[in-house]
Amino acid sequence: MYGLIGAMSVEVEALMDQLTDRQEKRIGMDVFVSGKLFGKDAVLSVCGPGKINAALCTQSMILHYQPEWILNLGVAGAGDATVTIGDMVVATAAVQHDMDTSPIGDPVGLVSKINLVEIPCDAALREKLVKAASAVAGVKVHEGIIATGDQFINSGEKRSRIHQLFHAKAVEMEGGAVAHACYAHGVPCGVLRSISDQADGQSGMDYPTFTKLAASHSQQVVENLLRGV
Ligand code: ADE
Repeated sequence: MYGLIGAMSVEVEALMDQLTDRQEKRIGMDVFVSGKLFGKDAVLSVCGPGKINAALCTQSMILHYQPEWILNLGVAGAGDATVTIGDMVVATAAVQHDMDTSPIGDPVGLVSKINLVEIPCDAALREKLVKAASAVAGVKVHEGIIATGDQFINSGEKRSRIHQLFHAKAVEMEGGAVAHACYAHGVPCGVLRSISDQADGQSGMDYPTFTKLAASHSQQVVENLLRGV
């Protein structure tokens, strides 16, 4: 069983449409839809935006479905100027850019309890994701850090700060929480994002324009992944 989590329905709806032998289960406020996806056992959920929504959904998925791995897919803002709208980023690791206990001596981004700044993503899954993403025509694929926080980033200054601190290639609101919950349970994790905006002063306009296309690219990657392309 593979687990797939998107924050918004646009990020998983094309996959939901392909799911057969469907069974639905509600746990708390999360709905999990399991079945066959391109011949493989899979469970899908829309977790809602932000780190806590993502962590709750991921933990429930792990405890109720015991997935072999969990992939968080969807859209993101660019982490720097080398990444542009339409590109894809596969995470080497995820960070929580708004976690900050530096006034008491910790590095910015240190997540207490797991004691990590960079929460690792599974290397084998990442390799498969890069291959599957590279098969999507006309899309540039980057590998690097994905930075997560409970904020939509819409300023060049905020983006630069996150890039300077963490070398982030993409900014979004869930990957670091999905990776955190997976790490806590020893479940391999992947984060795949398609860029919908530059996370700058234009992002409020670009995001609604490009989200649908960007979201469809990351779902195409999942199809390639599960079909073994
Ligand atoms: N998801 C898509 N674009 C984003 C941005 N600019 N900031 C945070 N999350 C995003």
